[in-house]
Amino acid sequence: MNRLKSKDLIALESLDKAEIELILGQAASFKEVVLRPVKKVPALRGKTVLNLFFEPSTRTATSFQLAATRLSADFVDIRVGESSVKKGETLLDTVATFEAMNVSVLVIRSSHAGTALMAGRALKASVINAGDGMHEHPTQGLLDLFTIRERKGRIEGLKVAIVGDITHSRVARSDIWGLTKLGAKVCLCGPRTMLPQGIESLAPGMITVTEKLEEALEGADVVQMLRLQMERQARFLFPTTREYTRFYALNSDKIKLAKPDVLVMHPGPMNRGLEISSGVADGPLSAIREQVSNGVAVRMAVLYLLAGVEGAE
Ligand code: NCD
Repeated sequence: MNRLKSKDLIALESLDKAEIELILGQAASFKEVVLRPVKKVPALRGKTVLNLFFEPSTRTATSFQLAATRLSADFVDIRVGESSVKKGETLLDTVATFEAMNVSVLVIRSSHAGTALMAGRALKASVINAGDGMHEHPTQGLLDLFTIRERKGRIEGLKVAIVGDITHSRVARSDIWGLTKLGAKVCLCGPRTMLPQGIESLAPGMITVTEKLEEALEGADVVQMLRLQMERQARFLFPTTREYTRFYALNSDKIKLAKPDVLVMHPGPMNRGLEISSGVADGPLSAIREQVSNGVAVRMAVLYLLAGVEGAE
Protein backbone atom coordinates (compact mmCIF):
# COMPACT_ATOMS: atom_id res chain seq x y z
CA MET A 1 0.00 0.00 0.00
CA ASN A 2 1.41 3.39 -0.95
CA ARG A 3 -1.64 5.59 -0.68
CA LEU A 4 -4.16 6.72 1.86
CA LYS A 5 -7.74 5.71 1.15
CA SER A 6 -9.24 9.17 1.59
CA LYS A 7 -8.16 12.42 -0.10
CA ASP A 8 -8.48 14.12 3.32
CA LEU A 9 -6.99 13.60 6.77
CA ILE A 10 -9.76 14.42 9.22
CA ALA A 11 -9.31 12.01 12.14
CA LEU A 12 -7.18 9.10 13.30
CA GLU A 13 -10.46 7.38 14.10
CA SER A 14 -10.98 6.84 10.38
CA LEU A 15 -7.48 5.58 9.49
CA ASP A 16 -6.61 1.91 9.74
CA LYS A 17 -3.40 0.53 11.20
CA ALA A 18 -1.76 0.08 7.78
CA GLU A 19 -2.47 3.69 6.81
CA ILE A 20 -1.01 4.98 10.09
CA GLU A 21 2.08 2.84 9.54
CA LEU A 22 2.40 4.12 5.99
CA ILE A 23 2.48 7.71 7.27
CA LEU A 24 4.98 6.89 10.04
CA GLY A 25 7.27 5.09 7.57
CA GLN A 26 7.13 7.99 5.12
CA ALA A 27 7.84 10.42 7.98
CA ALA A 28 10.96 8.44 8.88
CA SER A 29 12.40 8.96 5.41
CA PHE A 30 11.49 12.65 5.46
CA LYS A 31 13.20 13.00 8.83
CA GLU A 32 16.45 12.19 7.04
CA VAL A 33 15.72 14.94 4.52
CA VAL A 34 15.08 17.42 7.31
CA LEU A 35 18.46 16.61 8.85
CA ARG A 36 20.36 17.21 5.57
CA PRO A 37 22.09 20.54 4.93
CA VAL A 38 19.79 21.09 1.90
CA LYS A 39 16.36 20.32 3.31
CA LYS A 40 14.29 20.41 0.13
CA VAL A 41 12.78 17.78 -2.12
CA PRO A 42 10.72 18.57 -5.24
CA ALA A 43 7.77 16.27 -4.41
CA LEU A 44 5.12 19.02 -4.29
CA ARG A 45 6.58 21.42 -6.84
CA GLY A 46 3.81 23.32 -8.59
CA LYS A 47 1.27 22.56 -5.86
CA THR A 48 -0.12 25.05 -3.37
CA VAL A 49 -0.75 24.40 0.32
CA LEU A 50 -2.96 26.86 2.18
CA ASN A 51 -3.17 27.17 5.96
CA LEU A 52 -6.55 28.50 7.11
CA PHE A 53 -6.45 28.97 10.89
CA PHE A 54 -9.41 30.33 12.86
CA GLU A 55 -7.65 29.69 16.19
CA PRO A 56 -4.23 30.69 17.48
CA SER A 57 -1.36 28.38 16.70
CA THR A 58 2.40 28.55 16.89
CA ARG A 59 3.87 25.14 16.31
CA THR A 60 1.20 23.51 14.18
CA ALA A 61 0.95 26.39 11.70
CA THR A 62 4.73 26.86 11.46
CA SER A 63 5.27 23.17 11.14
CA PHE A 64 2.86 22.88 8.20
CA GLN A 65 4.55 25.85 6.56
CA LEU A 66 8.00 24.29 6.90
CA ALA A 67 6.69 20.93 5.75
CA ALA A 68 5.08 22.44 2.63
CA THR A 69 8.10 24.51 1.68
CA ARG A 70 10.51 21.60 2.22
CA LEU A 71 8.45 19.68 -0.29
CA SER A 72 8.81 22.68 -2.67
CA ALA A 73 5.10 23.58 -2.58
CA ASP A 74 3.91 27.17 -2.70
CA PHE A 75 2.47 28.16 0.65
CA VAL A 76 -0.20 30.64 1.73
CA ASP A 77 -0.91 31.40 5.40
CA ILE A 78 -4.29 32.84 6.39
CA ARG A 79 -5.23 33.65 9.98
CA VAL A 80 -8.86 34.59 10.37
CA GLY A 81 -10.45 36.13 13.45
CA GLU A 82 -12.98 33.74 14.92
CA SER A 83 -15.75 36.29 14.44
CA SER A 84 -15.38 36.91 10.72
CA VAL A 85 -16.46 33.45 9.58
CA LYS A 86 -19.14 32.11 11.87
CA LYS A 87 -21.77 30.39 9.76
CA GLY A 88 -21.24 27.14 7.92
CA GLU A 89 -22.37 28.67 4.69
CA THR A 90 -19.83 31.44 4.91
CA LEU A 91 -17.08 28.96 5.65
CA LEU A 92 -17.96 26.90 2.60
CA ASP A 93 -17.99 30.01 0.45
CA THR A 94 -14.56 30.87 1.81
CA VAL A 95 -13.02 27.48 1.11
CA ALA A 96 -14.65 27.32 -2.32
CA THR A 97 -12.85 30.56 -3.14
CA PHE A 98 -9.52 28.93 -2.39
CA GLU A 99 -10.38 25.96 -4.52
CA ALA A 100 -11.19 28.28 -7.38
CA MET A 101 -7.60 29.52 -7.03
CA ASN A 102 -6.35 25.98 -7.51
CA VAL A 103 -5.12 25.17 -4.04
CA SER A 104 -4.12 21.50 -3.75
CA VAL A 105 -4.23 21.11 0.04
CA LEU A 106 -6.20 23.09 2.59
CA VAL A 107 -4.95 22.82 6.20
CA ILE A 108 -7.72 24.00 8.48
CA ARG A 109 -8.00 24.71 12.22
CA SER A 110 -11.24 25.76 13.83
CA SER A 111 -12.86 25.81 17.24
CA HIS A 112 -15.84 23.93 15.81
CA ALA A 113 -15.82 20.14 15.61
CA GLY A 114 -16.62 18.94 12.10
CA THR A 115 -15.28 21.95 10.19
CA ALA A 116 -12.53 20.03 8.38
CA LEU A 117 -14.92 17.20 7.53
CA MET A 118 -17.41 19.62 6.07
CA ALA A 119 -14.74 21.40 4.04
CA GLY A 120 -13.37 18.08 2.78
CA ARG A 121 -16.79 17.00 1.58
CA ALA A 122 -17.32 20.26 -0.26
CA LEU A 123 -13.95 20.41 -2.03
CA LYS A 124 -12.03 18.40 -4.57
CA ALA A 125 -8.80 19.55 -2.95
CA SER A 126 -7.37 17.60 -0.01
CA VAL A 127 -8.23 18.86 3.45
CA ILE A 128 -6.10 18.28 6.56
CA ASN A 129 -7.61 18.82 9.98
CA ALA A 130 -5.17 20.85 12.09
CA GLY A 131 -7.54 20.72 15.08
CA ASP A 132 -11.33 20.99 15.15
CA GLY A 133 -12.73 22.06 18.49
CA MET A 134 -12.58 19.26 21.04
CA HIS A 135 -12.74 16.56 18.37
CA GLU A 136 -9.37 15.58 16.85
CA HIS A 137 -5.92 16.85 15.93
CA PRO A 138 -4.69 13.96 13.78
CA THR A 139 -1.23 15.26 12.82
CA GLN A 140 -0.45 15.83 16.52
CA GLY A 141 -1.55 12.24 17.21
CA LEU A 142 0.71 11.02 14.39
CA LEU A 143 3.74 12.97 15.58
CA ASP A 144 3.20 11.61 19.08
CA LEU A 145 3.09 8.06 17.68
CA PHE A 146 6.21 8.75 15.62
CA THR A 147 8.09 10.09 18.64
CA ILE A 148 7.10 7.15 20.83
CA ARG A 149 8.00 4.58 18.18
CA GLU A 150 11.34 6.21 17.49
CA ARG A 151 12.30 6.39 21.16
CA LYS A 152 10.81 3.12 22.38
CA GLY A 153 11.27 1.05 19.21
CA ARG A 154 7.62 -0.05 19.26
CA ILE A 155 4.12 0.98 20.26
CA GLU A 156 2.41 -2.35 20.77
CA GLY A 157 2.24 -3.43 24.41
CA LEU A 158 3.34 -0.07 25.87
CA LYS A 159 1.45 1.61 28.69
CA VAL A 160 0.82 5.24 27.83
CA ALA A 161 -0.63 7.57 30.48
CA ILE A 162 -2.44 10.67 29.22
CA VAL A 163 -2.94 13.11 32.07
CA GLY A 164 -5.04 16.25 32.43
CA ASP A 165 -8.02 17.82 30.75
CA ILE A 166 -9.11 14.84 28.65
CA THR A 167 -12.60 16.20 28.02
CA HIS A 168 -11.46 19.30 26.16
CA SER A 169 -8.45 17.78 24.47
CA ARG A 170 -8.52 16.98 20.77
CA VAL A 171 -4.93 15.80 21.17
CA ALA A 172 -6.03 13.17 23.70
CA ARG A 173 -8.71 11.90 21.33
CA SER A 174 -6.30 11.55 18.40
CA ASP A 175 -3.68 9.95 20.66
CA ILE A 176 -6.24 7.47 21.99
CA TRP A 177 -7.29 6.36 18.50
CA GLY A 178 -3.73 6.13 17.18
CA LEU A 179 -2.23 4.40 20.19
CA THR A 180 -4.96 1.80 20.58
CA LYS A 181 -5.02 1.01 16.85
CA LEU A 182 -1.29 0.28 17.11
CA GLY A 183 -1.76 -1.88 20.21
CA ALA A 184 -0.76 0.35 23.14
CA LYS A 185 -2.71 0.39 26.40
CA VAL A 186 -3.87 3.87 27.32
CA CYS A 187 -4.53 5.08 30.86
CA LEU A 188 -6.47 8.34 31.06
CA CYS A 189 -6.06 10.36 34.23
CA GLY A 190 -7.49 13.60 35.56
CA PRO A 191 -10.09 14.98 37.94
CA ARG A 192 -13.50 13.37 37.41
CA THR A 193 -14.79 16.60 35.90
CA MET A 194 -12.24 16.31 33.08
CA LEU A 195 -12.81 12.64 32.26
CA PRO A 196 -15.64 12.12 29.76
CA GLN A 197 -18.01 9.37 30.81
CA GLY A 198 -17.78 6.21 28.77
CA ILE A 199 -14.55 7.15 27.00
CA GLU A 200 -13.30 3.57 27.56
CA SER A 201 -15.75 2.45 24.89
CA LEU A 202 -13.62 4.08 22.16
CA ALA A 203 -11.37 1.00 22.31
CA PRO A 204 -12.79 -1.67 24.60
CA GLY A 205 -10.14 -3.45 26.68
CA MET A 206 -7.40 -0.98 25.70
CA ILE A 207 -8.36 2.02 27.85
CA THR A 208 -8.45 2.47 31.61
CA VAL A 209 -9.51 5.58 33.46
CA THR A 210 -8.37 6.81 36.87
CA GLU A 211 -8.52 9.90 39.03
CA LYS A 212 -5.27 8.94 40.75
CA LEU A 213 -2.01 10.06 39.17
CA GLU A 214 -0.09 7.32 41.00
CA GLU A 215 -2.20 4.66 39.28
CA ALA A 216 -1.68 6.21 35.88
CA LEU A 217 2.07 6.50 36.35
CA GLU A 218 2.61 3.04 37.77
CA GLY A 219 4.44 0.99 35.13
CA ALA A 220 3.98 3.71 32.50
CA ASP A 221 6.37 3.65 29.52
CA VAL A 222 5.16 7.03 28.30
CA VAL A 223 3.33 9.93 29.92
CA GLN A 224 1.70 12.62 27.83
CA MET A 225 0.79 15.68 29.94
CA LEU A 226 -1.99 17.91 28.61
CA ARG A 227 -2.50 21.62 28.89
CA LEU A 228 -5.46 22.80 30.95
CA GLN A 229 -7.77 24.09 28.22
CA MET A 230 -9.04 27.11 30.16
CA GLU A 231 -10.43 28.71 27.00
CA ARG A 232 -12.71 25.71 26.46
CA GLN A 233 -13.85 25.24 30.05
CA ALA A 234 -17.19 26.92 30.55
CA ARG A 235 -16.43 27.02 34.29
CA PHE A 236 -13.51 25.93 36.38
CA LEU A 237 -13.48 22.20 36.71
CA PHE A 238 -11.29 22.06 39.80
CA PRO A 239 -11.18 24.05 43.05
CA THR A 240 -7.92 25.99 42.50
CA THR A 241 -4.92 25.73 40.23
CA ARG A 242 -2.80 25.03 43.33
CA GLU A 243 -4.90 22.01 44.03
CA TYR A 244 -4.70 20.84 40.44
CA THR A 245 -0.93 21.14 40.53
CA ARG A 246 -0.73 19.28 43.79
CA PHE A 247 -2.66 16.26 42.52
CA TYR A 248 -1.99 16.18 38.80
CA ALA A 249 1.23 18.00 37.92
CA LEU A 250 4.22 15.95 36.85
CA ASN A 251 7.29 16.88 38.86
CA SER A 252 10.58 15.21 39.73
CA ASP A 253 9.04 13.35 42.69
CA LYS A 254 5.95 12.03 40.94
CA ILE A 255 7.88 10.88 37.91
CA LYS A 256 9.65 8.30 40.08
CA LEU A 257 6.35 6.38 40.15
CA ALA A 258 6.66 5.57 36.44
CA LYS A 259 9.25 3.30 34.80
CA PRO A 260 12.80 4.66 35.20
CA ASP A 261 13.06 5.24 31.44
CA VAL A 262 9.58 6.75 31.04
CA LEU A 263 9.24 9.10 28.08
CA VAL A 264 7.78 12.47 29.04
CA MET A 265 5.68 14.24 26.42
CA HIS A 266 3.52 17.35 26.10
CA PRO A 267 1.90 18.64 22.89
CA GLY A 268 2.49 22.26 23.91
CA PRO A 269 1.92 25.00 24.68
CA MET A 270 2.94 24.15 28.26
CA ASN A 271 1.80 25.88 31.41
CA ARG A 272 5.10 25.43 33.22
CA GLY A 273 4.59 24.96 36.94
CA LEU A 274 0.90 24.16 36.47
CA GLU A 275 0.67 20.74 34.79
CA ILE A 276 4.41 20.08 34.48
CA SER A 277 7.48 21.31 36.32
CA SER A 278 10.35 22.85 34.39
CA GLY A 279 12.71 20.26 35.86
CA VAL A 280 10.74 17.46 34.18
CA ALA A 281 9.91 19.35 30.98
CA ASP A 282 13.57 20.15 30.34
CA GLY A 283 14.97 17.00 31.96
CA PRO A 284 16.65 13.96 30.41
CA LEU A 285 13.42 11.94 30.07
CA SER A 286 11.63 14.64 28.11
CA ALA A 287 10.87 14.24 24.40
CA ILE A 288 8.92 17.51 24.21
CA ARG A 289 11.33 19.21 21.82
CA GLU A 290 11.58 16.12 19.66
CA GLN A 291 7.80 16.13 19.35
CA VAL A 292 8.07 19.56 17.77
CA SER A 293 10.85 18.66 15.34
CA ASN A 294 9.19 15.37 14.41
CA GLY A 295 6.06 17.36 13.62
CA VAL A 296 7.68 18.72 10.47
CA ALA A 297 8.62 15.27 9.09
CA VAL A 298 5.19 13.87 9.93
CA ARG A 299 3.39 16.75 8.22
CA MET A 300 5.66 16.38 5.18
CA ALA A 301 4.59 12.73 5.04
CA VAL A 302 0.90 13.59 5.23
CA LEU A 303 1.16 16.33 2.59
CA TYR A 304 3.16 14.04 0.34
CA LEU A 305 0.78 11.11 0.67
CA LEU A 306 -2.25 13.30 -0.01
CA ALA A 307 -0.89 15.48 -2.79
CA GLY A 308 2.50 14.26 -3.96
CA VAL A 309 2.03 10.60 -4.80
CA GLU A 310 1.46 9.62 -8.42
CA GLY A 311 -2.25 9.83 -9.10
CA ALA A 312 -2.98 11.88 -5.97
CA GLU A 313 -4.49 15.29 -6.64
C1 NCD B 1 -2.76 21.58 20.98
C2 NCD B 1 -4.03 22.06 20.32
O1 NCD B 1 -4.08 23.15 19.76
O2 NCD B 1 -4.96 21.28 20.31
N1 NCD B 1 -1.62 22.28 20.64
C3 NCD B 1 -0.91 21.89 19.54
O3 NCD B 1 -1.41 21.82 18.45
N2 NCD B 1 0.37 21.55 19.74
C4 NCD B 1 -2.91 21.42 22.44
C5 NCD B 1 -3.31 22.62 23.24
O4 NCD B 1 -3.73 23.63 22.75
O5 NCD B 1 -3.23 22.46 24.47
